[in-house]
Amino acid sequence: MTLVLKTLQECGSLNNKAVLLRVDLNVPMHHGRVEDATRIEKLKPTFDYLLDQGAKIIVVSHFGRPKGEFDRDLSLAPIADVLADVLNHEVKFAVDCIGDAAKEAVDGLESGDILLLENVRFHGGEKANDPEFSKELASYADVFVNDTFSCSHRAHASIVGVAEHLPSAAGLLLQEEISSIESVLDNPKTPMTVITGGAKVSTKLALLQNLMKKADHLVIGGAMANTFLKAKGHPIGVSLYEPELVDKAREILEQSKKCDCNIILPSQVVVASKLEQRAENSICDVDDVPNDGMILDIGPMAVQAIEAVLASSSTVVWNGPMGAFEYKPFDAASVAIARSIAYLTGKGKITSLAGGGDVVATIKSSGLAAHFSYISTAGGAFLEWLEGKELPGVAVLVSKEGADAKKVVNS
Ligand code: 3PG
Repeated sequence: MTLVLKTLQECGSLNNKAVLLRVDLNVPMHHGRVEDATRIEKLKPTFDYLLDQGAKIIVVSHFGRPKGEFDRDLSLAPIADVLADVLNHEVKFAVDCIGDAAKEAVDGLESGDILLLENVRFHGGEKANDPEFSKELASYADVFVNDTFSCSHRAHASIVGVAEHLPSAAGLLLQEEISSIESVLDNPKTPMTVITGGAKVSTKLALLQNLMKKADHLVIGGAMANTFLKAKGHPIGVSLYEPELVDKAREILEQSKKCDCNIILPSQVVVASKLEQRAENSICDVDDVPNDGMILDIGPMAVQAIEAVLASSSTVVWNGPMGAFEYKPFDAASVAIARSIAYLTGKGKITSLAGGGDVVATIKSSGLAAHFSYISTAGGAFLEWLEGKELPGVAVLVSKEGADAKKVVNS
């Protein structure tokens, strides 16, 4: 089943029309400076299209997780300048997203103007998808465009609520994200390998259960692998794991056999006695983890085993790091795997898809982003898509009757 979303072209002429454009300006910041502007850069085609059309663009975004009230540290004001630089176009700024400040700024707009509204999460109505709040936001515009796949798992006012009041369409980035992800997941070239990691099995349960049905190989790394190692009876010392999910892990291992999915757990690990930068560490077999040892990465032999699987794969999907990647040298396995995937993609041997904040940070800091087939800008939304969930922000943009926003991987 192909998902057909309403397009920008279907909005007709946008000349002099006010377009409420929901984007994701939730970018990593450090000391007031944007550390990675990828999410902003990827929005340029949609802005260019709307500017070409002569639209008045009213940009809505959240930043961080404020508690429904103004928080100076989470203002979008500094990001207006970065947006202006990326677009090479003036960006006006309204100090509130509703009320007099917003209305006045919107009333002053002319064709080809861009206005960024202050952080939409400074109002509780955003997260609550409050109908009055949605109505007020929608009242500023003639058309609503959602260009944030990365926020479409949130049933919030600026993503779902406004679509009830305005003709709506998917922006070019949202369309690109979905078609790129689907081109990999819908009838993937096999063998397909899914690599998952991160801290908790609980956050990846649905993904494991859904992709186990699709993948030939399922690599499990990160602290979540510890719960599986425990379930298989290996000693894991004082490693992080989820005791309440050990039985579930056992169940997943059993299920995988029925699905003919080869689950790959690390055979060798890197252990330390504490989690800190450059912590003294050693490499050992999974059966030899000392009582006071903490597993912080998978070992070189485990990486080699994964590399062998990758070399025999045609499709690779990666979501979740192999170790405590923020602490060097426990990023080593994730970086090695990023290199292998990039190499095989470059050689045309595999199609590779990656997403999720930690994995994308590893790929980018290794300078390998250009060598992947597709890297999603989304974290939570990418995960939910892989789980086969319906994303509410996508569901409201589906144009064909009978189609739904559920993942084809679920069908
Ligand atoms: C993200 O960074 O994944 C998106 O901006 C969504 O942010 P949220 O998890 O705070 O809704």
